[in-house]
Amino acid sequence: MQRAQYTSQVLLATAILYACLAPAACVYESTILQFLNEFRMRMCHPIPNLGLPALDPLQLGPAETEVNNKYLVDFTGSIDNFQLHGLSDFDVPVLSLNVVPGLKNTINVTFPLTHFESLYTAKGSLAYILNLAGDGNAETSITNFSILISFRLRTVSPLSISSLQIELQLGNLWINFDNLVEEERVNEFIHALINEMGVELLGDIWDYGQGTVVTKVQTLVNNFLSQYSLTDIIQIIAGGGGGEESAPIFEGVEPDCKLEASPSN
Ligand SMILES: *[C@@H]1O[C@H](CO)[C@@H](O)[C@H](O)[C@H]1NC(C)=O
Ligand SMILES: *[C@@H]1O[C@H](CO)[C@@H](O)[C@H](O)[C@H]1NC(C)=O
Repeated sequence: MQRAQYTSQVLLATAILYACLAPAACVYESTILQFLNEFRMRMCHPIPNLGLPALDPLQLGPAETEVNNKYLVDFTGSIDNFQLHGLSDFDVPVLSLNVVPGLKNTINVTFPLTHFESLYTAKGSLAYILNLAGDGNAETSITNFSILISFRLRTVSPLSISSLQIELQLGNLWINFDNLVEEERVNEFIHALINEMGVELLGDIWDYGQGTVVTKVQTLVNNFLSQYSLTDIIQIIAGGGGGEESAPIFEGVEPDCKLEASPSN
C-alpha cells in the first residue's frame, strides 16, 4: 500500500515536471501552477485517479518497524494515529522549465509549516549504551522546509532526466517524544540537543546521504518515464489545469479543502 502511494507521488511529480516539454514556448508554467492550485484545493480528500490518499492531513498507521543489530542499533518501533498537517500549504516560489535540451529546469517547493502528531513506541538500544523506552505521544513541527530540484532533460525517446540535484533547507525543527530514553536526564538532554541543533544535524545527514538518494531517485524517475509518451504526461497536466470544466483527473473530488483560506498565487 505504502509503495503504491509513493509510486503515484512520483508519477504526479514527474508529470508536473514534464508538462513543459510541449512544443513552442513554455506556457506550461502557468498551467502547472494552476494545476497545483486545483490539486491543493482537494488535498483533504483522496484523489482516486491519481492513486493518492488524503494528504492534508496525511494519516498513517498502525505500522511497525524493526532493525536488528545493524550498525549497533537494536530497534523496534511502531506508530499509530499518525497525522501530518500542512502539506497543502505549499508554495512554489521558483518554477523554471526549459524546453531547450541541456538547459536547467528548476523547481522550488516550500512548506511554511508542517507538523505531525502520533502515538508511538520505540524500544531498543543504540550501541548497547542508550536504552530507548519510547512510548506515548510524538510531536514534531518543521518550519520553512524547502526543496529545490534541478535537472536537465533529454527529450528524444526514451524520455529521461540527468544531472538531478536536490537541495533541502529547513528553517526550524522542533520535536517532543514522550519518554524516548529511559534515563530522564538523558532524555531531556537529547531533546534539548535536537531542538537546538536539529537543523544542522539534519543538514549533515542530508549531505552525507544525498549522493545515494539522488542517484536512486534519478533511476526511479527514468524507469518510470521510459514507459510513457510525452503526450500522455502532458495530457494529465493540461487536463488538470482547471479552467471552466475541472479536469477528468479530479473527477468526483470537491475543491473544498481551503474554503477559509484566501487563494494564493
Ligand atoms: C526556495 O525558495 C525560498 C523562497 O524564495 C527560499 O527562501 C529558499 O531558500 C529556497 N530553497 C532552496 C533549497 O534553495
Ligand atoms: C520562515 O520564512 C518566513 C518567510 O520567508 C520568515 O518570515 C520566517 O522568519 C521564517 N521562519 C523561520 C523559523 O525560519
